[in-house]
Amino acid sequence: MQKYTGKLAVLYQGQGDILPFQQLAERLKVPLYQSVNNECPESFFLTWRDGCLKLLDKELLKKGGLVVDIEPRNGEQRSWPAPKDGALAHALGRKTKTVIDATTGWGQDSLHIFRMGYEVLCIERSPVMTELLSDGFKRLVELEWMQKLNLQSPRLLIGNAIELLATLDAPPDCIYLDPMFPPKRKKSALPKKSMMVLRDLLGDDQDKEQLFAAALMAAGKRIVVKSPDYAEPLGGKPNESFHGKLLRYDVYFKG
Ligand SMILES: C[S@@+](CC[C@H](N)C(=O)[O-])C[C@H]1O[C@@H](n2cnc3c(N)ncnc32)[C@H](O)[C@@H]1O
Repeated sequence: MQKYTGKLAVLYQGQGDILPFQQLAERLKVPLYQSVNNECPESFFLTWRDGCLKLLDKELLKKGGLVVDIEPRNGEQRSWPAPKDGALAHALGRKTKTVIDATTGWGQDSLHIFRMGYEVLCIERSPVMTELLSDGFKRLVELEWMQKLNLQSPRLLIGNAIELLATLDAPPDCIYLDPMFPPKRKKSALPKKSMMVLRDLLGDDQDKEQLFAAALMAAGKRIVVKSPDYAEPLGGKPNESFHGKLLRYDVYFKG
């Protein structure tokens, strides 16, 4: 996993047992540090703080860090299943029951879809993001409302969705894609810190067209692509589009 060389390290600052930190560093094949100074070439660090696995950059070292946030987003109803309304639900479709999120990232869309009562399977290829997601999904299943309703966290498949989508036992009703698009050149609204860090760590997803083609083969009924409002539709003219704040959900029906 040479892609993290000089970019990422695990940070242990006396938080109890060092073993999980060592194991995490070994899994990701990155160094384990006990402190960070200006000599460290890495700009990203993983560490456990306040019971969560967190991703830090040098700016976030003192301030906290980024985690897979398992709380509902602003404006989302705090119930399960939350009402299926808003642009995302309209794009997923009234008859959809099963969804594969093939680009899970920070899991925010997956968790929104899960909280609306859809059955969600998550795919993510970045080993760092899958560590953060596994930690978030472990915290999710321990929440009181999840336990009361006897719910399990979404299942997470680790790997490249272009390959994994070709090996499914049964097609999901919908495949959801939110790949990383290049930023707009003109000045635009600043992306969220979590997305800026993701872009710095992983870069743009150069193979989104292949991912769309794989999704088109594997989906049962539809593909939904989330994209910035300035981007060209990924799969050509969509059958439907739903607009959110500075973004668009393009829907492609399976013929
Ligand atoms: C823009 S982020 C997704 C953000 C996500 N929708 C959320 O709510 O947090 C894109 C993510 O998709 C992942 N990704 C892109 N192409 C992929 C592929 N072919 N297979 C698996 N994961 C992929 C990237 O590693 C990245 O973590």
